[in-house]
Amino acid sequence: MSKDNHGRWTGAGLDAVLPALTGPDEATLRHVLGHYPTGVAVITASTPEGPAGIAMNSFTSVSMDPPLVLFCPAMSSTTWPQLRTAGRIAINVLSAGQESVSRLFASRSDDRFAEIAWTPGANGAPLLSDALGWLECTVQAEYPAGDHTVVIAEIDRMGVHAEISEPLVFFRGSYYEGMTQAVEADEAS
Ligand SMILES: Cc1cc2nc3c(=O)[nH]c(=O)nc-3n(C[C@H](O)[C@H](O)[C@H](O)COP(=O)(O)O)c2cc1C
Repeated sequence: MSKDNHGRWTGAGLDAVLPALTGPDEATLRHVLGHYPTGVAVITASTPEGPAGIAMNSFTSVSMDPPLVLFCPAMSSTTWPQLRTAGRIAINVLSAGQESVSRLFASRSDDRFAEIAWTPGANGAPLLSDALGWLECTVQAEYPAGDHTVVIAEIDRMGVHAEISEPLVFFRGSYYEGMTQAVEADEAS
């Protein structure tokens, strides 16, 4: 296989790597979207029933001014209604080594905070120890989208761990720890 003058792959080998593209049945949807690597965030809040949290990889940035992020809880989530009522949340970006924390916050465990270290942030929402970064946010808007809700939140305060710099990565249904070598050294960071 080779590239033509426009940078497009050409040649007989293309057929071998480009299968017939199919409609998005659920299994294909999960399989193909799982090829987009993400971090893992745990969204937390202090609720009248105690601290609550849920693992999500649908977290992404939206706007610089104002500073907005989004994440997408399933309509079926039992934890999101509790977080929504609190209104003030924390987004904990998990670090390499926190696979068990991700699994805990994706589980049906009644008390997800019993077996981990955390501290309340300025807005009361739990900040998980040894996370890679933290964002304290206020929920701004919710938009129903199919079987999920798109939640827009404004960042009030944020920061990263002073000593930990490696992320927990979720890719094709598996966890990966840390980054492989950078393509080019990023002198800005
Ligand atoms: C890596 C990972 C990413 C996830 N991302 C999302 C997500 O973006 N939205 C969502 O609703 N659930 C997501 N989940 C599933 C929830 O964590 C899980 O279904 C949830 O904890 C169910 O409990 P609940 O009923 O208390 O909300 C994810 C799970 C894992 C392991």
